[in-house]
Amino acid sequence: MAVRRKLIVGNWKMNGSLAALAELDPMAAAAANCCDVDVGICPPFTLVAPAAARAPSLAIGGQDCHAAESGAHTGCVSVPMLKEAGAKIAITGHSERRADQHESNEDVRAKALSALSAGLLTIVCVGESAAQRDADEAVAVVTAQLAGSVPDETQTGELVVAYEPIWAIGTGKVATPADVAEMHTAIRAHLRSRFGAEGEGMRILYGGSVKADNAAELFAVPDVDGALVGGASLTAAQFVPIIEAAASAK
Ligand code: PGA
Repeated sequence: MAVRRKLIVGNWKMNGSLAALAELDPMAAAAANCCDVDVGICPPFTLVAPAAARAPSLAIGGQDCHAAESGAHTGCVSVPMLKEAGAKIAITGHSERRADQHESNEDVRAKALSALSAGLLTIVCVGESAAQRDADEAVAVVTAQLAGSVPDETQTGELVVAYEPIWAIGTGKVATPADVAEMHTAIRAHLRSRFGAEGEGMRILYGGSVKADNAAELFAVPDVDGALVGGASLTAAQFVPIIEAAASAK
């Protein structure tokens, strides 16, 4: 069986400031103590360069990227720009971008391909709505998102899938371990069927209201290789215990 290192990535969304980067210091210290865990933080674009300079031992990343390297795309940031700022990670296809910016699976696949081609750790987010889960469509929806959003070639970067049920994001509602297990098993099967042994080694994160008090239970679920953490990644007081829970998970 593939040994996959745990990966904990914080997504600051549209939060943070230069002053807030002080939170990175204890996070970096915790990451250094938990040497079996990879830790990243994706702050807003304006903070990527100062975050990377301040915390070189953390993997700093962008919350999105454009598929093109440059051009007339007002307000967008490309993968080469992110890399120049020190980014090691790109999040693509977050449900907030799929909803707010109307990103399609095709858009997400193109962004992910750009990030993977540049060697970034590329997180492709998928997840169903509450209505889709209630209609028993969750696995079918997520599988279709994977088919449409995950590029066929992983290039030089590392592909990571984040399963984030939309109804669990920022709500305090967490998917049950049984539901997480069912979905992560389905995602693993999809990755294995497309990528063979490489798919066995790809990390699958859970996201949606991950906190210090539920992290250990989630990390005990087979095929949960870490977490994408929103609200609880903003402060070291909340984020460090999640890193520590990943380090203690077997
Ligand atoms: P949350 O966000 O941890 O605040 O629910 C997770 C995410 O959107 O990545």
